[in-house]
Amino acid sequence: MKILATGVEGQLARSLVERSAFHSGIELLAIGRPQLDLAVQGSAAAAIESVQPQIVINAAAYTAVDKAEDEPELAFRINADAAGELAAAAARAGAAMVQVSTDYVFDGSRQGPYDERIPTSPLGTYGRSKLAGEEQVRAANPRHAIVRTAWVYSPFGSNFVRTIMNAARTRDMLTVVDDQVGSPTSALDLADGLLRMATSWMDDPDRGLGTVYNLAGSGSASWCGLASFIMAECGKRSLPSAEVRPIATSDWPTKAERPANSVLDSSKFTKQFGFRMPDWQQSVSAVVERLAAQSVA
Ligand SMILES: NC(=O)c1ccc[n+]([C@@H]2O[C@H](COP(=O)([O-])OP(=O)(O)OC[C@H]3O[C@@H](n4cnc5c(N)ncnc54)[C@H](OP(=O)(O)O)[C@@H]3O)[C@@H](O)[C@H]2O)c1
Repeated sequence: MKILATGVEGQLARSLVERSAFHSGIELLAIGRPQLDLAVQGSAAAAIESVQPQIVINAAAYTAVDKAEDEPELAFRINADAAGELAAAAARAGAAMVQVSTDYVFDGSRQGPYDERIPTSPLGTYGRSKLAGEEQVRAANPRHAIVRTAWVYSPFGSNFVRTIMNAARTRDMLTVVDDQVGSPTSALDLADGLLRMATSWMDDPDRGLGTVYNLAGSGSASWCGLASFIMAECGKRSLPSAEVRPIATSDWPTKAERPANSVLDSSKFTKQFGFRMPDWQQSVSAVVERLAAQSVA
């Protein structure tokens, strides 16, 4: 089964490449700029026509949440219009389209975990552009799955785990927001889940298509709780560690407003594809361990 993943240098695409090596029936090709530039109309279709995949996983996105407030057209071009073009080209090639989306489609005003039935209401441009991407994908290809994830980290690229580990090299004390709660997600686990979904389509090509799934690390944490856990894991390995102190969102103003609660309930995905995301603590520990072994964070 041939899978085309976009965003080759991104956390998720790199994780997909790494984890697909464990699936003998899967050939995964990841592409990105300059071969595939989602800012350019027609680029998506050309890539799919040349590769002729059975599945397209759109792991590329405009992910700069604050910068999106200043570049809404570019954010919508990449996250919405290009996603729709990928989905339409996938449909013409007879391929299923997996659109990776975000917890930031929710406004975070709810208590408790969000499931897929809860109405969306994004607070910022990034969330609005990703929600528009979901809508365009839905309209362009009935054989789609929209997979919302959250708070993604990995051994690759820039992410919260690496930022905290790097900050602890030069600072004794870090202040971290404690009133935003979410579902920290290892891109490696996310890749495992998406590949489980893809392998299930070898036997049943339409299984669970045409709907939205949450797929995020099990459990929940605040940014401050996550940072404290990362520092404890570093301490255990004699890596640089700093004291973590809680602050409020109002003490750390950002251009884009973030949801106060975006904990995702992934049980629909578990029921459909028999895959449960590991507890976030287990996966953070594994990524810290890997970064420690590489001696780079
Ligand atoms: N990161 C998170 O915390 C988070 C949270 C919720 C949902 N998500 C979603 O999860 C998915 C994967 O995220 P990630 O963390 O892997 O993102 P990432 O590490 O920021 O990677 C995004 C990739 O998209 C590529 N990209 C951006 N603009 C492009 C363009 N015009 N043409 C082609 N490629 C382009 C980037 O390419 P370059 O390397 O060339 O810049 C980059 O490789 C995305 O759909 C994201 O919205 C992420």
